[in-house]
Amino acid sequence: MKRLSSSEREVVVYSYYRDAELRGANLIFRMTRFVDDPESQVMLSEHLADETRHAWLWTQRIRDLGAYPVPIDDGYQVRIGKMAGLPRNVIDLFGLTVVVEQRALRRYQEHMRRPGIPPETMEVLREVSKDEPWHIDWIRKKAREFAENAGTPKRADEAIAKYREIDRAVMQDLGDFERSLGI
Ligand SMILES: [Fe+2]
Ligand SMILES: [Fe+2]
Repeated sequence: MKRLSSSEREVVVYSYYRDAELRGANLIFRMTRFVDDPESQVMLSEHLADETRHAWLWTQRIRDLGAYPVPIDDGYQVRIGKMAGLPRNVIDLFGLTVVVEQRALRRYQEHMRRPGIPPETMEVLREVSKDEPWHIDWIRKKAREFAENAGTPKRADEAIAKYREIDRAVMQDLGDFERSLGI
């Protein structure tokens, strides 16, 4: 990659975050087609509203820098999708979502610990991180409930463990890349 200025690097990093939020929203949207549990439908609607708002907050942050989001085709979700494939049942789908949400939160928390973060970026990081714990909690609870109801109570945690392995492999590469941008 050509040498980027520090504000260009910021735009790249925020574009990765934006992409992860948009693709996360797409995953949540897809789940609305997968489950007929009415409680899940309510939760998914609010969850989807959060993820699209997160994508908008990163988009606004990029615009505030006078830039436009850059297209990202090798972000977290694409990488994990390639390695994990698309889950074919609801327990796997929910298990994958738990891992993806935990990763989103961890990336933001890690970013917040770096020195010299512009206050406007810190505000967005705080705002988007605030919603992730309830996302993780309700999805994990539902995954376990589905597994329980299917008579395979361990399936949810097994699915989460399986996707966590894949997530680790994905983040090894992506984490190196993000650190190399040094923002
Ligand atoms: Fe989010
Ligand atoms: Fe989330």
